[in-house]
Amino acid sequence: MVDLRIRGGVAALPDGPAEADVLIDGGRILALVAPGSGAEARETLDASGCVVLPGAIDPHVHFRTPGMTDKEDWPSGSAAAVAGGVTTVLDMPNVLPATSSAEALAAKAALVEGRSWCHYGFFGGLEAGNQDRLRGLAKAGAIGFKVFLGESTASLPPPDPAGLRCAFRVAADLGRRVAVHAEDAETLRAASSAVAAPGFDLRSHGRARPAEAESRAVALVCALCAETGAPVLIAHLSTGAGADEVRRARSRGADAGAEATPHHLLLTEEDAVRLGLGSLAKVNPPLRGEGDREALWRAVADGTVTQFGSDHAPHTPEERRGDRPPSGFAGVQNTLPALLGHPRLPLRDFVRLTAEGPARNWGLWPRKGRLAPGADADLAVVRPAAPAQAVRQWSRNPDGPLLRGCPVRAEVVVTLVDGQVAYGAGQPSGRPRGRWLRP
Ligand code: DOR
Ligand code: ZN
Repeated sequence: MVDLRIRGGVAALPDGPAEADVLIDGGRILALVAPGSGAEARETLDASGCVVLPGAIDPHVHFRTPGMTDKEDWPSGSAAAVAGGVTTVLDMPNVLPATSSAEALAAKAALVEGRSWCHYGFFGGLEAGNQDRLRGLAKAGAIGFKVFLGESTASLPPPDPAGLRCAFRVAADLGRRVAVHAEDAETLRAASSAVAAPGFDLRSHGRARPAEAESRAVALVCALCAETGAPVLIAHLSTGAGADEVRRARSRGADAGAEATPHHLLLTEEDAVRLGLGSLAKVNPPLRGEGDREALWRAVADGTVTQFGSDHAPHTPEERRGDRPPSGFAGVQNTLPALLGHPRLPLRDFVRLTAEGPARNWGLWPRKGRLAPGADADLAVVRPAAPAQAVRQWSRNPDGPLLRGCPVRAEVVVTLVDGQVAYGAGQPSGRPRGRWLRP
Protein backbone atom coordinates (compact mmCIF):
# COMPACT_ATOMS: atom_id res chain seq x y z
CA MET A 1 0.00 0.00 0.00
CA VAL A 2 1.43 3.39 -1.01
CA ASP A 3 0.13 6.87 -0.10
CA LEU A 4 -0.96 8.13 -3.50
CA ARG A 5 -1.34 7.18 -7.16
CA ILE A 6 -1.57 9.88 -9.82
CA ARG A 7 -3.27 7.98 -12.58
CA GLY A 8 -4.12 8.40 -16.23
CA GLY A 9 -1.79 11.27 -17.07
CA VAL A 10 1.12 11.79 -19.41
CA ALA A 11 4.23 11.96 -17.27
CA ALA A 12 7.06 14.29 -18.29
CA LEU A 13 9.89 11.82 -17.67
CA PRO A 14 13.55 12.82 -18.01
CA ASP A 15 13.79 11.10 -21.41
CA GLY A 16 10.46 12.32 -22.72
CA PRO A 17 6.72 12.14 -22.11
CA ALA A 18 5.08 8.74 -21.49
CA GLU A 19 1.74 7.44 -20.27
CA ALA A 20 2.55 6.40 -16.74
CA ASP A 21 1.08 6.45 -13.24
CA VAL A 22 3.12 8.07 -10.49
CA LEU A 23 3.28 6.24 -7.15
CA ILE A 24 4.07 8.40 -4.15
CA ASP A 25 4.94 7.30 -0.65
CA GLY A 26 6.33 9.17 2.33
CA GLY A 27 6.62 12.41 0.36
CA ARG A 28 8.83 10.87 -2.32
CA ILE A 29 8.27 9.42 -5.75
CA LEU A 30 8.39 5.67 -5.31
CA ALA A 31 7.90 4.52 -8.91
CA LEU A 32 6.58 5.35 -12.34
CA VAL A 33 4.51 2.45 -13.58
CA ALA A 34 2.44 1.39 -16.57
CA PRO A 35 -1.13 2.75 -16.19
CA GLY A 36 -3.04 0.76 -13.57
CA SER A 37 -0.12 -1.49 -12.61
CA GLY A 38 1.98 -1.69 -9.46
CA ALA A 39 1.12 -1.27 -5.77
CA GLU A 40 -2.28 -0.24 -4.46
CA ALA A 41 -2.67 3.28 -3.12
CA ARG A 42 -4.66 4.72 -0.25
CA GLU A 43 -5.61 7.70 -2.41
CA THR A 44 -5.88 8.34 -6.12
CA LEU A 45 -5.60 11.55 -8.09
CA ASP A 46 -7.11 11.46 -11.56
CA ALA A 47 -4.83 13.12 -14.12
CA SER A 48 -6.69 12.06 -17.26
CA GLY A 49 -6.13 14.56 -20.04
CA CYS A 50 -3.33 16.16 -18.05
CA VAL A 51 0.43 16.31 -18.10
CA VAL A 52 2.26 15.46 -14.88
CA LEU A 53 5.36 17.62 -14.50
CA PRO A 54 8.15 17.84 -11.98
CA GLY A 55 7.17 20.95 -10.00
CA ALA A 56 8.74 24.04 -11.50
CA ILE A 57 11.64 25.61 -9.66
CA ASP A 58 11.48 29.38 -10.12
CA PRO A 59 15.05 30.43 -9.40
CA HIS A 60 14.37 34.16 -9.53
CA VAL A 61 11.64 35.73 -7.39
CA HIS A 62 11.45 38.86 -5.27
CA PHE A 63 8.95 38.07 -2.51
CA ARG A 64 9.82 41.39 -0.79
CA THR A 65 10.30 40.05 2.73
CA PRO A 66 11.39 41.86 4.82
CA GLY A 67 10.68 45.54 4.43
CA MET A 68 8.68 45.78 1.21
CA THR A 69 5.60 43.75 2.02
CA ASP A 70 3.19 46.26 0.50
CA LYS A 71 4.49 44.97 -2.86
CA GLU A 72 4.38 41.24 -2.02
CA ASP A 73 4.39 39.09 1.07
CA TRP A 74 5.57 35.55 1.57
CA PRO A 75 2.13 33.92 1.98
CA SER A 76 0.76 35.71 -1.12
CA GLY A 77 3.89 35.18 -3.22
CA SER A 78 4.14 31.49 -2.36
CA ALA A 79 0.39 31.00 -2.95
CA ALA A 80 0.91 32.48 -6.44
CA ALA A 81 3.83 30.07 -6.88
CA VAL A 82 1.86 26.89 -6.20
CA ALA A 83 -1.05 28.25 -8.26
CA GLY A 84 1.47 28.45 -11.10
CA GLY A 85 2.81 24.91 -10.69
CA VAL A 86 5.94 26.18 -8.93
CA THR A 87 7.01 24.03 -5.98
CA THR A 88 10.32 25.76 -5.14
CA VAL A 89 11.31 29.42 -5.34
CA LEU A 90 14.72 30.99 -4.89
CA ASP A 91 14.38 34.47 -3.44
CA MET A 92 16.52 37.52 -4.17
CA PRO A 93 18.36 39.62 -1.57
CA ASN A 94 17.33 43.18 -2.56
CA VAL A 95 14.99 43.65 0.39
CA LEU A 96 15.20 45.93 3.44
CA PRO A 97 17.58 45.26 5.06
CA ALA A 98 19.42 43.53 2.20
CA THR A 99 20.18 39.83 2.65
CA SER A 100 23.91 40.44 2.52
CA SER A 101 25.02 39.06 5.88
CA ALA A 102 24.50 35.80 7.76
CA GLU A 103 22.43 37.67 10.35
CA ALA A 104 20.11 39.15 7.73
CA LEU A 105 19.72 35.71 6.14
CA ALA A 106 18.83 34.09 9.45
CA ALA A 107 16.34 36.88 10.23
CA LYS A 108 14.67 36.42 6.84
CA ALA A 109 14.47 32.65 7.29
CA ALA A 110 12.80 33.15 10.67
CA LEU A 111 10.18 35.43 9.08
CA VAL A 112 9.35 32.92 6.35
CA GLU A 113 9.30 29.76 8.46
CA GLY A 114 5.86 28.16 8.55
CA ARG A 115 4.36 30.69 6.09
CA SER A 116 5.37 29.26 2.73
CA TRP A 117 3.15 27.20 0.42
CA CYS A 118 6.21 26.10 -1.58
CA HIS A 119 9.79 25.18 -0.77
CA TYR A 120 12.29 28.02 -0.85
CA GLY A 121 15.91 28.97 -0.91
CA PHE A 122 17.58 32.34 -0.34
CA PHE A 123 20.29 34.09 -2.29
CA GLY A 124 22.97 35.87 -0.32
CA GLY A 125 23.69 39.39 -1.54
CA LEU A 126 27.14 40.06 -2.96
CA GLU A 127 27.81 43.79 -2.77
CA ALA A 128 30.69 46.27 -2.73
CA GLY A 129 32.87 45.42 0.24
CA ASN A 130 31.15 42.31 1.60
CA GLN A 131 33.52 39.64 0.19
CA ASP A 132 34.41 38.75 3.75
CA ARG A 133 30.81 37.91 4.56
CA LEU A 134 30.27 35.43 1.73
CA ARG A 135 31.60 32.48 3.72
CA GLY A 136 29.23 33.31 6.55
CA LEU A 137 26.34 33.60 4.13
CA ALA A 138 27.16 30.22 2.61
CA LYS A 139 27.41 28.66 6.03
CA ALA A 140 24.08 30.21 7.03
CA GLY A 141 22.49 28.43 4.06
CA ALA A 142 22.60 30.76 1.04
CA ILE A 143 21.74 28.79 -2.10
CA GLY A 144 24.12 31.00 -4.09
CA PHE A 145 24.95 34.67 -4.43
CA LYS A 146 23.34 37.53 -6.33
CA VAL A 147 25.17 40.62 -7.48
CA PHE A 148 23.80 43.72 -9.22
CA LEU A 149 26.32 45.32 -11.58
CA GLY A 150 23.92 48.17 -12.39
CA GLU A 151 21.33 49.99 -10.30
CA SER A 152 17.82 48.51 -10.00
CA THR A 153 15.10 48.24 -7.30
CA ALA A 154 16.68 48.77 -3.85
CA SER A 155 19.75 47.07 -5.23
CA LEU A 156 22.92 46.30 -3.41
CA PRO A 157 25.88 48.59 -4.23
CA PRO A 158 27.81 47.08 -7.17
CA PRO A 159 31.42 46.03 -6.48
CA ASP A 160 34.10 47.33 -8.83
CA PRO A 161 35.83 44.78 -11.12
CA ALA A 162 38.62 44.18 -8.58
CA GLY A 163 36.09 43.55 -5.81
CA LEU A 164 34.10 41.29 -8.12
CA ARG A 165 37.21 39.24 -8.93
CA CYS A 166 37.94 38.87 -5.25
CA ALA A 167 34.34 37.78 -4.52
CA PHE A 168 34.36 35.32 -7.44
CA ARG A 169 37.46 33.67 -5.96
CA VAL A 170 35.59 33.13 -2.71
CA ALA A 171 32.53 31.81 -4.56
CA ALA A 172 34.75 29.41 -6.54
CA ASP A 173 36.29 28.19 -3.32
CA LEU A 174 32.87 27.70 -1.73
CA GLY A 175 31.47 26.08 -4.89
CA ARG A 176 28.47 28.45 -4.83
CA ARG A 177 27.13 29.90 -8.08
CA VAL A 178 26.81 33.66 -8.56
CA ALA A 179 23.71 35.03 -10.29
CA VAL A 180 24.47 38.34 -11.94
CA HIS A 181 22.25 41.24 -12.87
CA ALA A 182 24.42 42.07 -15.86
CA GLU A 183 23.97 45.70 -16.84
CA ASP A 184 27.12 47.81 -16.73
CA ALA A 185 26.65 50.78 -14.37
CA GLU A 186 28.90 53.15 -16.35
CA THR A 187 27.07 52.45 -19.63
CA LEU A 188 23.71 52.95 -17.90
CA ARG A 189 24.83 56.30 -16.48
CA ALA A 190 26.04 57.59 -19.83
CA ALA A 191 22.94 56.41 -21.70
CA SER A 192 20.42 57.70 -19.18
CA SER A 193 21.93 61.17 -19.01
CA ALA A 194 21.60 61.30 -22.83
CA VAL A 195 17.85 60.54 -22.75
CA ALA A 196 16.80 62.57 -19.67
CA ALA A 197 13.17 63.04 -20.74
CA PRO A 198 10.57 64.56 -18.41
CA GLY A 199 7.86 62.11 -17.37
CA PHE A 200 7.84 58.42 -18.12
CA ASP A 201 7.76 56.72 -21.47
CA LEU A 202 8.65 53.13 -22.21
CA ARG A 203 10.87 53.77 -25.22
CA SER A 204 13.03 56.23 -23.26
CA HIS A 205 13.46 53.57 -20.58
CA GLY A 206 14.72 51.20 -23.28
CA ARG A 207 17.15 53.81 -24.63
CA ALA A 208 18.44 54.52 -21.12
CA ARG A 209 19.38 50.85 -20.68
CA PRO A 210 20.87 49.85 -24.06
CA ALA A 211 21.95 46.39 -25.18
CA GLU A 212 25.64 47.35 -24.82
CA ALA A 213 25.16 47.73 -21.07
CA GLU A 214 24.30 44.04 -20.99
CA SER A 215 26.93 42.73 -23.41
CA ARG A 216 29.72 44.66 -21.63
CA ALA A 217 28.70 43.34 -18.23
CA VAL A 218 28.31 39.78 -19.53
CA ALA A 219 31.76 39.94 -21.16
CA LEU A 220 33.33 41.02 -17.86
CA VAL A 221 31.51 38.32 -15.88
CA CYS A 222 32.47 35.59 -18.36
CA ALA A 223 36.11 36.68 -18.28
CA LEU A 224 36.15 36.57 -14.47
CA CYS A 225 34.34 33.24 -14.50
CA ALA A 226 37.03 31.74 -16.74
CA GLU A 227 39.81 33.30 -14.65
CA THR A 228 38.56 32.40 -11.16
CA GLY A 229 36.53 29.25 -11.81
CA ALA A 230 33.45 30.71 -10.08
CA PRO A 231 30.25 29.20 -11.49
CA VAL A 232 28.05 32.02 -12.79
CA LEU A 233 24.54 32.51 -14.10
CA ILE A 234 23.55 35.55 -16.11
CA ALA A 235 20.11 36.49 -14.79
CA HIS A 236 17.38 37.59 -17.22
CA LEU A 237 19.50 37.53 -20.37
CA SER A 238 17.84 39.87 -22.87
CA THR A 239 20.11 40.41 -25.87
CA GLY A 240 21.67 38.45 -28.72
CA ALA A 241 25.05 40.06 -27.98
CA GLY A 242 24.86 38.91 -24.36
CA ALA A 243 23.90 35.40 -25.49
CA ASP A 244 26.93 35.34 -27.83
CA GLU A 245 29.23 36.14 -24.90
CA VAL A 246 27.78 33.33 -22.79
CA ARG A 247 27.91 30.89 -25.71
CA ARG A 248 31.58 31.70 -26.33
CA ALA A 249 32.47 31.28 -22.66
CA ARG A 250 30.66 27.93 -22.48
CA SER A 251 32.38 26.65 -25.60
CA ARG A 252 35.70 27.34 -23.86
CA GLY A 253 34.61 25.31 -20.87
CA ALA A 254 33.64 28.10 -18.47
CA ASP A 255 30.85 27.23 -16.02
CA ALA A 256 28.64 30.07 -17.24
CA GLY A 257 24.91 29.71 -17.85
CA ALA A 258 22.03 32.03 -18.49
CA GLU A 259 18.43 32.56 -17.49
CA ALA A 260 15.61 33.60 -19.80
CA THR A 261 12.40 35.19 -18.54
CA PRO A 262 9.01 34.65 -20.13
CA HIS A 263 8.63 38.38 -20.74
CA HIS A 264 11.84 38.71 -22.73
CA LEU A 265 10.91 35.61 -24.75
CA LEU A 266 7.31 36.54 -25.43
CA LEU A 267 7.17 40.33 -25.68
CA THR A 268 9.04 43.15 -27.39
CA GLU A 269 9.06 46.81 -26.40
CA GLU A 270 6.95 47.35 -29.52
CA ASP A 271 4.32 44.86 -28.26
CA ALA A 272 4.15 46.64 -24.91
CA VAL A 273 3.67 50.03 -26.59
CA ARG A 274 0.99 48.61 -28.88
CA LEU A 275 -0.81 47.08 -25.88
CA GLY A 276 -0.61 50.43 -24.06
CA LEU A 277 1.05 48.83 -21.04
CA GLY A 278 3.07 51.93 -20.10
CA SER A 279 4.93 51.62 -16.81
CA LEU A 280 3.41 48.16 -16.24
CA ALA A 281 5.94 46.85 -18.78
CA LYS A 282 8.92 48.72 -17.30
CA VAL A 283 11.55 46.20 -16.29
CA ASN A 284 15.33 45.92 -15.92
CA PRO A 285 16.75 44.86 -18.29
CA PRO A 286 14.08 46.34 -20.57
CA LEU A 287 11.97 44.55 -23.15
CA ARG A 288 13.98 44.62 -26.40
CA GLY A 289 13.30 44.42 -30.14
CA GLU A 290 12.38 41.50 -32.35
CA GLY A 291 16.03 40.67 -33.22
CA ASP A 292 17.01 40.18 -29.61
CA ARG A 293 13.84 38.24 -28.86
CA GLU A 294 14.64 35.86 -31.72
CA ALA A 295 18.24 35.50 -30.56
CA LEU A 296 16.98 34.58 -27.09
CA TRP A 297 14.89 31.75 -28.52
CA ARG A 298 17.98 30.47 -30.35
CA ALA A 299 19.87 30.54 -27.06
CA VAL A 300 17.06 28.51 -25.50
CA ALA A 301 17.22 25.93 -28.28
CA ASP A 302 21.01 25.50 -28.31
CA GLY A 303 21.45 25.17 -24.54
CA THR A 304 23.05 28.55 -23.83
CA VAL A 305 20.03 29.27 -21.65
CA THR A 306 20.14 26.89 -18.69
CA GLN A 307 17.09 27.99 -16.71
CA PHE A 308 13.84 29.94 -16.94
CA GLY A 309 13.07 32.41 -14.17
CA SER A 310 10.08 34.69 -13.82
CA ASP A 311 11.89 37.61 -12.13
CA HIS A 312 8.63 37.98 -10.19
CA ALA A 313 9.04 41.54 -8.90
CA PRO A 314 5.71 43.18 -8.04
CA HIS A 315 5.14 46.83 -7.20
CA THR A 316 1.95 48.61 -6.13
CA PRO A 317 -0.29 50.40 -8.67
CA GLU A 318 0.27 53.68 -6.79
CA GLU A 319 4.04 53.42 -7.26
CA ARG A 320 3.55 52.85 -10.99
CA ARG A 321 1.58 56.04 -11.50
CA GLY A 322 4.35 58.56 -10.83
CA ASP A 323 6.92 60.16 -13.17
CA ARG A 324 9.58 57.72 -12.02
CA PRO A 325 7.84 54.37 -11.75
CA PRO A 326 9.77 51.37 -10.44
CA SER A 327 10.77 48.43 -12.66
CA GLY A 328 9.37 44.92 -12.47
CA PHE A 329 6.07 43.07 -12.24
CA ALA A 330 4.53 39.79 -11.11
CA GLY A 331 5.16 36.54 -12.99
CA VAL A 332 5.62 33.50 -10.75
CA GLN A 333 2.05 32.32 -11.40
CA ASN A 334 2.16 33.02 -15.13
CA THR A 335 5.35 31.44 -16.43
CA LEU A 336 4.01 27.92 -16.80
CA PRO A 337 0.63 28.93 -18.31
CA ALA A 338 2.38 31.21 -20.82
CA LEU A 339 5.14 28.81 -21.89
CA LEU A 340 3.90 25.22 -21.54
CA GLY A 341 2.83 24.14 -25.02
CA HIS A 342 4.44 27.14 -26.73
CA PRO A 343 5.11 26.07 -30.33
CA ARG A 344 8.82 26.81 -29.97
CA LEU A 345 9.24 24.88 -26.75
CA PRO A 346 9.09 21.07 -26.82
CA LEU A 347 7.95 19.57 -23.50
CA ARG A 348 11.44 18.23 -22.84
CA ASP A 349 12.93 21.71 -23.09
CA PHE A 350 10.22 23.05 -20.82
CA VAL A 351 11.16 20.47 -18.18
CA ARG A 352 14.88 21.05 -18.72
CA LEU A 353 14.50 24.78 -18.15
CA THR A 354 11.90 24.89 -15.38
CA ALA A 355 13.04 21.89 -13.34
CA GLU A 356 16.26 20.07 -14.18
CA GLY A 357 18.28 23.17 -15.10
CA PRO A 358 17.50 25.23 -12.00
CA ALA A 359 17.90 22.16 -9.77
CA ARG A 360 21.37 21.52 -11.17
CA ASN A 361 22.38 25.19 -11.11
CA TRP A 362 21.56 25.63 -7.43
CA GLY A 363 22.60 22.34 -5.90
CA LEU A 364 19.13 20.80 -5.58
CA TRP A 365 19.61 17.95 -8.08
CA PRO A 366 18.77 15.01 -7.93
CA ARG A 367 16.26 15.37 -5.05
CA LYS A 368 14.43 18.07 -7.00
CA GLY A 369 13.81 18.78 -10.66
CA ARG A 370 12.91 15.34 -12.01
CA LEU A 371 10.11 12.85 -12.14
CA ALA A 372 12.02 9.76 -11.07
CA PRO A 373 12.06 7.27 -8.18
CA GLY A 374 13.70 8.74 -5.11
CA ALA A 375 13.00 12.37 -5.98
CA ASP A 376 10.82 14.49 -3.71
CA ALA A 377 7.15 14.37 -4.69
CA ASP A 378 6.92 18.01 -5.80
CA LEU A 379 4.70 17.85 -8.88
CA ALA A 380 2.28 19.82 -11.00
CA VAL A 381 -0.71 18.29 -12.76
CA VAL A 382 -1.49 20.54 -15.68
CA ARG A 383 -4.20 20.59 -18.36
CA PRO A 384 -2.60 21.67 -21.63
CA ALA A 385 -5.38 24.06 -22.66
CA ALA A 386 -6.64 27.49 -21.72
CA PRO A 387 -9.00 27.35 -18.71
CA ALA A 388 -12.69 28.08 -19.28
CA GLN A 389 -12.47 31.23 -17.17
CA ALA A 390 -9.73 33.50 -15.88
CA VAL A 391 -7.80 31.93 -13.02
CA ARG A 392 -7.60 33.79 -9.72
CA GLN A 393 -4.23 35.48 -9.19
CA TRP A 394 -2.69 35.14 -5.72
CA SER A 395 0.09 37.70 -5.74
CA ARG A 396 -0.53 40.82 -3.67
CA ASN A 397 0.07 42.85 -6.87
CA PRO A 398 -0.47 40.38 -9.71
CA ASP A 399 -0.73 42.71 -12.67
CA GLY A 400 1.87 42.51 -15.40
CA PRO A 401 2.49 42.20 -19.12
CA LEU A 402 2.23 38.39 -19.13
CA LEU A 403 -1.29 38.65 -17.77
CA ARG A 404 -2.22 41.41 -20.21
CA GLY A 405 -0.35 40.43 -23.34
CA CYS A 406 0.26 36.68 -23.57
CA PRO A 407 -2.17 33.88 -24.36
CA VAL A 408 -2.77 31.35 -21.59
CA ARG A 409 -1.85 27.90 -22.90
CA ALA A 410 -2.24 25.68 -19.86
CA GLU A 411 -4.06 25.40 -16.56
CA VAL A 412 -2.54 24.20 -13.30
CA VAL A 413 -5.02 21.70 -11.82
CA VAL A 414 -3.14 20.39 -8.78
CA THR A 415 0.26 21.17 -7.29
CA LEU A 416 1.82 18.72 -4.84
CA VAL A 417 4.52 19.68 -2.36
CA ASP A 418 6.17 16.74 -0.57
CA GLY A 419 3.36 14.53 -1.85
CA GLN A 420 0.61 16.70 -0.32
CA VAL A 421 -1.85 18.89 -2.21
CA ALA A 422 -0.61 22.47 -1.85
CA TYR A 423 -2.92 23.84 -4.55
CA GLY A 424 -6.14 22.35 -5.91
CA ALA A 425 -9.70 23.35 -6.81
CA GLY A 426 -8.41 26.84 -7.55
CA GLN A 427 -6.87 27.61 -4.19
CA PRO A 428 -4.02 26.86 -1.80
CA SER A 429 -4.83 23.76 0.17
CA GLY A 430 -3.89 22.29 3.55
CA ARG A 431 -1.28 24.24 5.49
CA PRO A 432 1.86 26.01 4.26
CA ARG A 433 4.36 23.16 4.42
CA GLY A 434 7.20 24.60 2.35
CA ARG A 435 10.70 23.98 3.72
CA TRP A 436 13.92 25.97 3.56
CA LEU A 437 16.30 24.35 1.08
CA ARG A 438 20.05 24.67 1.29
CA PRO A 439 22.35 23.44 -1.47
O1 DOR B 1 12.86 45.11 -13.13
C1 DOR B 1 13.46 44.71 -12.14
N1 DOR B 1 12.87 44.68 -10.92
N2 DOR B 1 14.72 44.30 -12.26
C2 DOR B 1 15.49 44.04 -11.19
O2 DOR B 1 16.63 43.77 -11.35
C3 DOR B 1 14.95 44.17 -9.83
C4 DOR B 1 13.49 44.01 -9.84
C5 DOR B 1 12.88 44.44 -8.53
O3 DOR B 1 13.34 43.96 -7.49
O4 DOR B 1 11.93 45.24 -8.53
ZN1 ZN C 1 15.22 40.18 -10.36
